[in-house]
Amino acid sequence: MPSNSFSTVARIAYIASEILVDSLPPLPLTSEFRSSFTSVSRSSRRRPNLITVPHGGDPAATLLRANGDALTSFTALSNSQTIAKLVLRLAESASTPLVLHIALLNDLSDVLLLRTVVPYFLLSTNSQQAHDNALLASKLARSQKKAVVHAFFTTGSDIAVELPEEDILNLLFDEKKLVNGQNGYTNGANGHSNGQSNGINGHSNGVNGHTNGANGVDSPEDVEDDAAALQLFKAYEAAALNTLKAVRRPIRPLTSTGATEPSTVIFTLGKASFEATVDGVSFVDVTLLSPLLASRILAAIPLTATSVIVLEQVQNWSLKWTPLYLEVVSALQQRNPATRPVVHSGILGNSTDISQVDVLKLLQKACKTTSPSRLQLGSFSTENNDASQGHHVPKHELSYTKLLAHLFRDRLDIANSPNLIPAQGDLATSPEFALGRVRGQIDERARLLSAVRDLLQTGNVDGETHSLLSKWVLAKDDSIKSRSLGLDIVEKLQTLDQSALVQRVLALKSHFPSASRWIIGSDAWSYDLGSSGLHHVIASGLNINILILDTLPYSQRNSADPTRRKHDVGLYAMNHGDVYVASVAIYSSYAQVLQALIEADKFDGPSVILAYLPYENEDAPALNILKETKLAVDAGYWPLYRWDPSKEVQGKEPFTLDSDAVKNDLQAFLDRQNHLSQLVRSKPQLATELVSSLGETVKEIRKKKALQSYNDLLTNLDAPPLTILYASDGGNAEKVAKRLSNRAQARGLSVTLATMDSISLDSLKQEEFVAFITSTAGQGEPPQNGRQFFKALNAAIGRETNLLPNLRFSVFGMGDSHYWPRPEDAHYYNKPGKDLDARLEKLGGTRVAGLGLGDDQDADGYQTGYKSWEPQLWKVLGVDSIEVTETEPEPITNEHIKAASNYLRGTILEGLEDNTTGALAPSDGQLTKFHGIYQQDDRDIRDERLAQGVEPAFAFMIRVRMPGGVCTPEQWLTMDQIADEHGSGTFKITTRQTFQFHGVIKRHLKPAIQDINRVLLDTLAACGDVNRNVVCSSIPTMSKLHAQVHQFAVSVSQHLVPRTTAYHEIWLDKKLVAGEALKDFEPLYGEFYLPRKFKVAIAVPPTNDVDVFANDLGFIAIVDDKGELAGFNVTVGGGMGVTHGNKKTYPRTGDLIGFCTPEQGKFVAEKVMLTQRDNGNRADRKNARVKYTIDRMGLDVFKAEVEKRLGYALQPARPFTFDRNVDDFGWSTGEDGRHHFMMFIENGRIQDETGKEFKSGLREIAKIHKGAFRLTTNQHLLISDIPTEDLPQIKQILFKYKMDNLSQSGLRLSSSACVAFPTCGLAMAESERYLPLLVDKVEKICEENGLRNDTIVMRMTGCPNGCARPYVAEIAFVGKAPGTYLMLLGGGYYGQRLNKIYRETVTEPEILDILKPMIKRYALERNDGEHFGDWTIRAGYIAATTSGKEWYDRMGGEGEYAQ
Ligand SMILES: Cc1cc2nc3c(=O)[nH]c(=O)nc-3n(C[C@H](O)[C@H](O)[C@H](O)COP(=O)(O)O)c2cc1C
Ligand code: SF4
Repeated sequence: MPSNSFSTVARIAYIASEILVDSLPPLPLTSEFRSSFTSVSRSSRRRPNLITVPHGGDPAATLLRANGDALTSFTALSNSQTIAKLVLRLAESASTPLVLHIALLNDLSDVLLLRTVVPYFLLSTNSQQAHDNALLASKLARSQKKAVVHAFFTTGSDIAVELPEEDILNLLFDEKKLVNGQNGYTNGANGHSNGQSNGINGHSNGVNGHTNGANGVDSPEDVEDDAAALQLFKAYEAAALNTLKAVRRPIRPLTSTGATEPSTVIFTLGKASFEATVDGVSFVDVTLLSPLLASRILAAIPLTATSVIVLEQVQNWSLKWTPLYLEVVSALQQRNPATRPVVHSGILGNSTDISQVDVLKLLQKACKTTSPSRLQLGSFSTENNDASQGHHVPKHELSYTKLLAHLFRDRLDIANSPNLIPAQGDLATSPEFALGRVRGQIDERARLLSAVRDLLQTGNVDGETHSLLSKWVLAKDDSIKSRSLGLDIVEKLQTLDQSALVQRVLALKSHFPSASRWIIGSDAWSYDLGSSGLHHVIASGLNINILILDTLPYSQRNSADPTRRKHDVGLYAMNHGDVYVASVAIYSSYAQVLQALIEADKFDGPSVILAYLPYENEDAPALNILKETKLAVDAGYWPLYRWDPSKEVQGKEPFTLDSDAVKNDLQAFLDRQNHLSQLVRSKPQLATELVSSLGETVKEIRKKKALQSYNDLLTNLDAPPLTILYASDGGNAEKVAKRLSNRAQARGLSVTLATMDSISLDSLKQEEFVAFITSTAGQGEPPQNGRQFFKALNAAIGRETNLLPNLRFSVFGMGDSHYWPRPEDAHYYNKPGKDLDARLEKLGGTRVAGLGLGDDQDADGYQTGYKSWEPQLWKVLGVDSIEVTETEPEPITNEHIKAASNYLRGTILEGLEDNTTGALAPSDGQLTKFHGIYQQDDRDIRDERLAQGVEPAFAFMIRVRMPGGVCTPEQWLTMDQIADEHGSGTFKITTRQTFQFHGVIKRHLKPAIQDINRVLLDTLAACGDVNRNVVCSSIPTMSKLHAQVHQFAVSVSQHLVPRTTAYHEIWLDKKLVAGEALKDFEPLYGEFYLPRKFKVAIAVPPTNDVDVFANDLGFIAIVDDKGELAGFNVTVGGGMGVTHGNKKTYPRTGDLIGFCTPEQGKFVAEKVMLTQRDNGNRADRKNARVKYTIDRMGLDVFKAEVEKRLGYALQPARPFTFDRNVDDFGWSTGEDGRHHFMMFIENGRIQDETGKEFKSGLREIAKIHKGAFRLTTNQHLLISDIPTEDLPQIKQILFKYKMDNLSQSGLRLSSSACVAFPTCGLAMAESERYLPLLVDKVEKICEENGLRNDTIVMRMTGCPNGCARPYVAEIAFVGKAPGTYLMLLGGGYYGQRLNKIYRETVTEPEILDILKPMIKRYALERNDGEHFGDWTIRAGYIAATTSGKEWYDRMGGEGEYAQ
């Protein structure tokens, strides 16, 4: 396969070596080698050990450890720092099999330094040569056990023909096939023995047809070569010959072209890509620079030559004589002085534009002087080769540096700032330099202090100045006072007599303010701590702060050099004594970073902050950094802590652990990081408590397991055994397995039921009869709780064939043949089931019943396949004739759980007290939903925790009930505080106009709910099968009307709230008055509550911001002629949730059924809800919402039932008009003169981010605001009811925190995403964290087409449940699997029409490919005021959806746009 120089060299290095060391280039560059290694690894059977060395690290130290027979290949982009480190230490590795492939941009100056420390130096100037020389270098290093430098120019376009992997391996490893491989004495490739050391290339040179003197002809002179060099050269020739035979291309140390009897010989070292034929001139291109024999050089300079020009591409060479020039001059010393030509040294520049005329000019210049002088050929650029020269701060690192700038503003002094490079050179970024600079500054400040003291003593200043000076002396370390006093002092002194002393003070005036001094460096410092500048800074005792950024991603932690342990700088610094130390991660805890930076600044002495920022390259999306950070923090790899020795002096605890997860996994963390001594010293009690409680947990689990096994043994002693193993993500396969287990028990079998991951292969060997049930996740992946098992099976396949000789098995696989609808994805259908079936057989198992396949697409779903599979099992087990008389136990459903819960109590209270697990019992998990609480686990770290054998990181989501989304500033402040004290530090405005907290761990649940209650809010019925938070329009320009509508929302919510006292009892510690005597009573719900959730929305036309048609029940406010609220139009049957692949599920928009007065409203709500309660489908939750009830009963029947219950008929619906459903951003004023500001909060997330500290800003507003906060169902925020007199102050805060910035594109302002990963347990793909990144790209397309300010409603959800109402958006994406979405088009602009599936699986590139031409066309073709959703239908992309039931009809695009 043809390849460019980078990839061809990387490929050979990968195939040829046992160890690969890749030195990373300075950021923002990324290693081109690494990406090539990844692509080679896909096809190669070789697996070298890949080690990366960060830029700034010492690669030589890594290379020194790699020795023995293994070939080590080192890859790097040439830069002065890396080369300098290699030069210093590489000599020690000169006799080891090592190849250094160094990529060059345009200059050899740096890399040539390596010539002095290694025996071999090869140079390649094009891709083909790079390929051949990379092979040769590997062969040479391996056979000679010597270090070889292979420098090669990076080439853009030219490509190399590559040798197949087998041939490379033959060349490198199959010594038998070699010709005199080791003795350096070779036969000529041309078939004759030439008796001398040459013969590699004894054929004619193609340029002008003569025999090439440098290669095919012996030196005519009697020349003595250096014996050692000769020995090395012979080995080179042997290796070159073998390589030549493999690649069938000549390989030459020197190549001559041009005149045979030249008067001038021009040597070129570098990329001489010019072709010039000049009479009397021969050109010699040098490929082998070490060893370069005198005889070879002289052979290339015929006796006819009177002049030699040596051109070298060494623009930045700093020594007087260049390397090749010296070689040539010294070789010529062996020639008779009479025939010795004049030698000129020259620099070769960019050779692409060199013409014949340029060469002639060069010759003329050379003729003019007989003395050696330096010539030039080619153009010269001012750029140089060294990639480290640019002073670029990688964009991700800006998140820390911006924070420093934000915190310390004018006081911030980054002592090694890249900004110093232009003035002070590259060295300015080193810690040694920074330390020197800081020392100087501290000395200067000390001099200022002494000058001020002298001035105070002399008394030659007036009273006021004297007082200012004395105050400064006292407050010189106070960041604010020292600055302001300094300014006053300078002002005063400038008006005084300029005595020498005053002048002394003024000369040092810049030191009045106390600075916050920082040195910023990379984790490369952590390798050689003792000798690094870092050590000196720590040991200096100076008041200086060091921020060390560690960028190694957690998932790549093992690819760092295993032998060179990165030292724990934190521990090192802590052991040093009086040093403040913190370990932080901005993507884990913003607040902790802030706290650490502030404490470090205050600490009087050195401070070290270790900051985690895992990213591979500058393009790494923030989402990856976030996930890597979470993994690292959760696994204890990157614990968050602060160590403040100044606290010890005050008798306080100096050590603070800030990451919860570390505490859970403490033992492992302590072992690994050796922090035990630190911790025990600082918190002896904590350490013992945690360690012993871990022990208790394990004991408890063991006890339970033992009891369980004993019971199982007793009950199942006699019956034939059946083991059922299942793997299931969404619960279907689990349900089938449990049902099978019940039915087997009913037939008298002894059954063991478990997940696949709970059994090892060793235990499986003991099993006799196993039924496997697995569903399919991802793209043909096994479900989560079967992955380890599948992995173990796969690994065993390679090793053994008869592992399971006794096993009799049958597999039932469950999948969806349409989940991935493209023909090329057909193999994903039921893949785990099929794979499992084949593998078990391969491992010696006996298939006793054929593979069963359940398909969601079958008429009866997976049941269709199951029905024919199960009887086969009974047959082979010999129980098919057994009559099952007892009815098998019914599976437990939500209906059972509700009924048995004693009005939503269950065993929640007991579960809260169980501290052996972070979770609640599964049935309690269903019940807590009714209390507004969802159990979740952090899915970013689920796999990693599973691998570590710890339970998932359980935490809870709490949702507040807040009808109409209106809250007071006091309530806001409490929400803000709850997020910090009990949750993840952020909170979210949801699409149901309320607050949601994530990451609340079990023991924080109760305190959090009590805090919510303290400000008169609750969480009751925020989730569950009840009426959810009632939402209402939040655009209050008609102030009175909105007040009435809001009041109406509150009254509906209140009217429909469950009456159970369980909520108060469990969360608020309010006991039932008469113990058990007083029973709860649910007048509306009864003990079964509703079949499914019930959602109510109230819209105030002309805005449909609440998407009233997406709700089970909707009220549309109707205003009479006088502007008073006349009542509401009523809609029923809207709903969003769908299940992928299940066509019985669909979204639906609500239908208008009439009009009611405000007084009737809450009763209408009640009766609609009760009609649903009694008619909804309780047997199938996927078919239980009002929308299905209506479609089953018929709208008229449903309406009649409601009216019957009301006792009157609804009035006919009244006219209304909607014109939008997006929020009205910016300022507005109500009829009552109060002001409102609609603020854009992307996807409703309230958090502090660098440059966007909205959480802090809103807290500041809440402290002074006298009106209300209104949350919108589009997840934005209205700061409402601001009196005119408060406007300036509020505006000032909005401005300060950049919260008044509404310059976002129309697309972004109207976009909306649900939470999805990492917390939502149902998410199949990213949503909230990904949509903003997608908007970045789509908005560019809009901008290119002049649509920056046009609104296109684009929404995304992580699963088909549709929390962000995607099915009424103009463009929507619904998650199917990570990175893959359904794409929908054609929704109505104001939520009046459903969209339709346009593509069933799209990834980002496909999304952009689809939208680019579509948006362009829209910009050109739309009619005035035509919205995107309407246009996509008119333009023929998609058919309009007129009712939910026909949602699937004509899906997949229309005509030429069909899928
Ligand atoms: C995210 C996701 C990905 C899926 N991928 C596949 C697939 O690649 N092949 C397939 O046959 N079925 C696929 N399915 C269908 C499921 O395997 C099927 O619905 C099964 O009944 C789910 O069982 P469970 O609830 O036990 O996980 C997928 C389902 C989901 C939710
Ligand atoms: S739409 Fe799905 S993924 Fe998104 S929050 Fe709702 S349930 Fe979770």
